[in-house]
Amino acid sequence: MSDAAGTQQLFTEYYGHAPVGVWSAPGRVNLIGEHTDYNDGFVFPFAIAERTWVALGDRADRVIRVATSFAPDPVEIHLDDLAPHAVDGWAAYPLGVAWALGRFGADLGHVRGVDLFITSDVPVGAGLSSSAALESAVALALDEHWGLGLDRPTLAKVGQLAENEVVGAPTGILDQSASLLSEPDSAVFLDCRSLDAEVIPLHFTAEGLSLLVIDTKVTHAHATGGYAARRASCEAGARGLGVSSLRDLDVDDLDRARAVLDDETFRRVRHILTENRRVLDTVRTLREQGPGAIGPLLDASHASMRDDFEITVPEIDLAAATAQANGAVGARMTGGGFGGSVIALVADDRVAELTAAVRAAFAEHGFGEPVIFTEQASAGARRDA
Ligand code: GLA
Repeated sequence: MSDAAGTQQLFTEYYGHAPVGVWSAPGRVNLIGEHTDYNDGFVFPFAIAERTWVALGDRADRVIRVATSFAPDPVEIHLDDLAPHAVDGWAAYPLGVAWALGRFGADLGHVRGVDLFITSDVPVGAGLSSSAALESAVALALDEHWGLGLDRPTLAKVGQLAENEVVGAPTGILDQSASLLSEPDSAVFLDCRSLDAEVIPLHFTAEGLSLLVIDTKVTHAHATGGYAARRASCEAGARGLGVSSLRDLDVDDLDRARAVLDDETFRRVRHILTENRRVLDTVRTLREQGPGAIGPLLDASHASMRDDFEITVPEIDLAAATAQANGAVGARMTGGGFGGSVIALVADDRVAELTAAVRAAFAEHGFGEPVIFTEQASAGARRDA
């Protein structure tokens, strides 16, 4: 278990002097709104309790050195040498952020270098955005330390640019926005076109509900294959329908879409248009009836990802179906897909039964053991020390 004090201590042991501060940022669960972000649509994520910490120390020269508790070798680079292809592996995230800050107006020609030490307890490969947690913690730390004064929506774009250009994953703005804008017991209703964000209370705990994460341990690979292919299908669908993005359409356009597009592209488009509608319906239902009433929307979102967008895998579908059949208010895959985690909203007194049912179903199918835990909607990125 990492924390701010532990990260501070590891920094001091590693570099032989104390850091000037410690910052942290969380991973995220997306409650609903999947693959809508890069279509200028709606998303509704919240920060999880697991975080990534970064301790930062000043340097007299213009070198950035970064070390972590999860990789053996530190990486260092001169600020003048930062470029999209200058770094790879895990260091592409923190150093990509440093480069991206320059692209958003930071004058990196005049700042001093820094030492960074990073720890994290956000599960990697679980679809919970360990990458955005790392990017957001580093972005906030460097912004404050260098006195850049960028606001949080801009820092989210910085993280996204690092991910797109340096890491090489064509992802949207969902994860970094969740990590930077979240507040406890709330989710962020984000319009990915205008970037207008509204923090909306969830009240899961007050309503006697638990949010379970079922990590199937099946790992995804964003940078390759499926994610990029889905993004390309959405762009093809928009082109075929004569709009700049699928955000310009809604469910009333589906008949026309069916007439114009090939079947596969039509189903990709149908997922996006119905998912945008489900995000809006979830926000409204939550406000008017409370969290106990959003279950059918979560279930419908899962079916759409499974049947229309085709980004689920057998372990994920089994987890969602078993949760739905064993008392969940609603259940769906969260994140980019092709593995990762299912979330299930469930009454507190049914958590044990549901957990046992999912474990039994996985064993029966010969699937590897899932990791199942409850999550709390938590605070976004912040300075800890
Ligand atoms: C990943 C990406 C996000 C988003 C989701 C799918 O998490 O990083 O930008 O596209 O997949 O909703």
